[in-house]
Amino acid sequence: MIAATAFRPPAPQPRETPLGLFGWLAAVRRNPIETWTQAHYERPAIVSWRPSGKRVLVSDPAGVRRIFLDNAANYRKDDLQLRLLRPQRGNGILTAEADEWRAQRRLLAPMFTPRQIGAFAPAMAEAARQSVERLRRRDDREIDVLSEMARLAIEMLNHTLFSSGLSCEADEYRLAMTSYFNTVGRISILDLLGLPRPIPRGGRAVLNWFCRTIDETISARRKLIASGVTPPRDVLTLLLEMRDPETGQGMPEDVLRSNTVTFIGAGHENTANSLTWALYLLSQSHHWRDRVEAEVDAKLNAGPKETLVDRLPVTKAVLDEALRLYPPSAILTRTAISADEIAGTRIEPGMMVTVAPFVLHRHRKLWDRPDEFDPTRFLPGNRERIDRFAYIPFGFGPRVCIGMSFALHETIVALAHLTYAFRFELKHGHVVRPVHRITLRPQGGLPMILQPRRPTNEV
Ligand code: HEM
Repeated sequence: MIAATAFRPPAPQPRETPLGLFGWLAAVRRNPIETWTQAHYERPAIVSWRPSGKRVLVSDPAGVRRIFLDNAANYRKDDLQLRLLRPQRGNGILTAEADEWRAQRRLLAPMFTPRQIGAFAPAMAEAARQSVERLRRRDDREIDVLSEMARLAIEMLNHTLFSSGLSCEADEYRLAMTSYFNTVGRISILDLLGLPRPIPRGGRAVLNWFCRTIDETISARRKLIASGVTPPRDVLTLLLEMRDPETGQGMPEDVLRSNTVTFIGAGHENTANSLTWALYLLSQSHHWRDRVEAEVDAKLNAGPKETLVDRLPVTKAVLDEALRLYPPSAILTRTAISADEIAGTRIEPGMMVTVAPFVLHRHRKLWDRPDEFDPTRFLPGNRERIDRFAYIPFGFGPRVCIGMSFALHETIVALAHLTYAFRFELKHGHVVRPVHRITLRPQGGLPMILQPRRPTNEV
């Protein structure tokens, strides 16, 4: 535990020189965030040559703006990302392109308006309260925070976007996701060489499990609708009601399944990671832990649930800073369709263009003390000074995270309830190492010791 107001949480030391081809292939497979050099953290763009072709890492705010906003139509989701995600998420909103993507996005947008998120607020608070109760009932004070936060995030979905529940326990889903990340979701040498690859060992079983579980969730909702009961207005009902404007046909079964799994996956995985990182960072900073505790003690029960988030600027700043230092979507990749120019670099058609929030958020030219944990930068009055294209934990432009407001709201609510009830201490001797497996997570989970902050009957 560090008493100072700012400290440097663990991150890979940038390399002085680039890795050779074989070293790079091994490092990407082990942990892609260990491949970057000092130059990546200092320059606006770095070009490299790899077996699958030429690629560029862009860390220039104007370049980020061009890729994600001004010339977004020229940058499609790249093949590597699709290889890792498509086996599970098929052609859902996260991976679809052009008209197919636009139709899905338009349909689902009403679920994520500020008004709708406000309407979810009481349900989110209830999910957080139930998670606190579950943690209170545990005999063992040592918990894996990453697993617990995944459970909490699935419960949030069960109370909101999939309001009649998923047809499996939160734990089963969490374990299946871990198995997916360690098999199909792990980059292989074949992916890096651009060669076809078979589904890795263990991957087929987990993919079948996802298909079965999602089909059961969808069929339970269809039965409910067929029985004449008014279904809840949630993501699943919207997907089932979607009609092709020309043919009047419903969403094809595979796209329906893809979107259901996408919303469960995208809707809990990143949320769980961001809460885990925030709890870790707070455990390492007396100063910020005390400030968050003081804020939630004073404000959690001091007004309506709908306005809770507005009452917690310090808690929000801690989460924003956690998303800066450990952005769960740490690497965003695109393929250029036509030629372009970014940060003085000529972009050729077919070139892989990467923006890594992990690098952008720690860039030496864009941030003061980039590797230090200091939520002050996100407090009202300071936040306005941050370049909006230098901080993109949710992406930007038309493909920006559709669940951004939902996620910001639920993580603040969850962190407030958790901090009100408990203090989380890192297990003595545990070494934290961030590792990238589709998302950025602490390797091997995050063992912490729970210390209740108030008597059981006071929630
Ligand atoms: C802290 C939590 C979250 C983070 C950091 C995060 C981050 C991101 C990022 C960076 C993207 C853009 C990917 C790209 O441009 O390649 C994205 C897309 C997406 N996210 Fe999130 N996300 C979070 C929570 C959520 C939640 C709660 C949901 C759903 C309830 C969600 C659903 C989606 C979907 C469906 C897309 C694809 C959008 C599209 O392509 O139109 N995310 N997310």
